Formats: sequence, C-alpha cells, structure tokens
Amino acid sequence: MTAAGRTRRKDILRELGLAPLWRTRTEMHGRASAEKAEATGEPIPGLHVDAKEDRRTQISRMGWDELKASVEGCIACPLSQSRTRTVFGIGDRNADWLYVGEGPGAQEDATGEPFVGQAGKLLDNMLAAIDLKRGQNVYIANIVKCRPPDNRAPTSHEAHQCEPYLARQIELIKPRLIIALGKVAAENLLHTDASLGSLRGRLHQHSGIPVIVTYHPAYLLRTLPAKAKAWEDLCFARRTMGTLGTSE
Ligand code: URA
Repeated sequence: MTAAGRTRRKDILRELGLAPLWRTRTEMHGRASAEKAEATGEPIPGLHVDAKEDRRTQISRMGWDELKASVEGCIACPLSQSRTRTVFGIGDRNADWLYVGEGPGAQEDATGEPFVGQAGKLLDNMLAAIDLKRGQNVYIANIVKCRPPDNRAPTSHEAHQCEPYLARQIELIKPRLIIALGKVAAENLLHTDASLGSLRGRLHQHSGIPVIVTYHPAYLLRTLPAKAKAWEDLCFARRTMGTLGTSE
C-alpha cells in the first residue's frame, strides 16, 4: 500500500473510532507483521471482534448531539456513499411511543426527515387514528439512517452497522412501547425471520421494552385490505399503552 493509501486508511479508521486499536495491533505485532497482514489480508486474532466492540461502546456512551454528529459522519457501510443526507430520526426525545421504519426513501434522503413521503402521510394518519401526533410523545426512526438505493431493503450488513445508533436512541428515549413498522423493522428489532402475519397481535420485547408489529405504511398503500388489520394493531397498541401506565 502507498503512503497516501495508508494515510487514507488511517483517516477512515480514526473516523470509525478504530485508530487506537490500529496502534495496539502495530504495537503487539510490530509494524512489519501488521503491514504483512494488511498486504495479505491475513486476520489478526481478536482484532475484528475488538474493533466492533469498540465502535459500539463508543456509540453507547454518546449523548444526543454527539450521536447525531456521528450519524452524519458515518461511513460504516456502503449506503454512506450513495446518500444525500442521513436521516437521524425525529420527534420527542422523551416519547412513550417509538415508531421504527425500515430506511429512508428518496424524499427522506433529500430532506433528512423520516417518513415525509406518501408513506409518511399515511403514518401521520395512523398516528392521528389513535390520538397521536408526530413530535408529541412520539419519536420516529428507522433501522438504517441512509437510503438504500432504488428503495431496496437494507442488507443485514447495513442494518448491523447501523444498529448501535438505534440502540443508543432507544436507551436515551426509553420509550414505553415500540411499534415495528413492517418486516425489516420486525426482523431487526426482534431478530427473527418469522412472517409479519405471525408476529402481529402479540407483545414482543426488545431490550426489555414491549414491541408491537404492524404493517409498513408503504405496504398499506399498495395493499388496501391490510388497512383493517393495521387498524386492529393500532387499537392493540393503544390498549397496551394503557396497561403500561402512560404519562399522557
Ligand atoms: N419508509 C421508511 O421505512 N422510513 C422512512 O423514513 C420513509 C419511508
């Protein structure tokens, strides 16, 4: 690798919060062996796992401002290369209700706000149906903070790389109830590949917080008959919040 390449790599590692580990690896194995491993792609035991823990640990200590800045500068997955803007999440940071979607679409990528397109209008109506309003006791976020190109679903790698950000948002918000909007949100929050239909109508848990699964608003726009089922889910969510002793 050239000197310029090494500098670029160091910059990226520093951006990801991995620079100290890079030093540790060099110290442990010596520059010659580190450079040999870099050239051959040979794994160095412990580095990969420690590196991931390090980034996650750093994110898990962040406050809101630092977290938002970290998301804005994130280059941890390929979505960072095609995004226009990151979409951090929006709403009441002390909300009882957390709605989690899949990932930004074109309009969200352009504006930096989640659920502002057609699906967002429907989400606002779904909120209104149970007397909720965007920004008032409600926070809205996504599984990934950058737009997957061509509106494809995020890959498991992209979701995994983004997960510490949502995990930290959940820790900071401490919602009483999480609503998973659609299969991608349910899969990633509940670590299951069960069908959405089989996950509806029961209470699940994520980090000790109750989770209710319903259809994604974009799916509802395409599949009108599912709206009646979504209405059942919303009523279930409202009843559940009642039993959780909401501060409303
Ligand atoms: N769909 C999502 O899942 N999230 C958004 O923010 C917009 C559309």
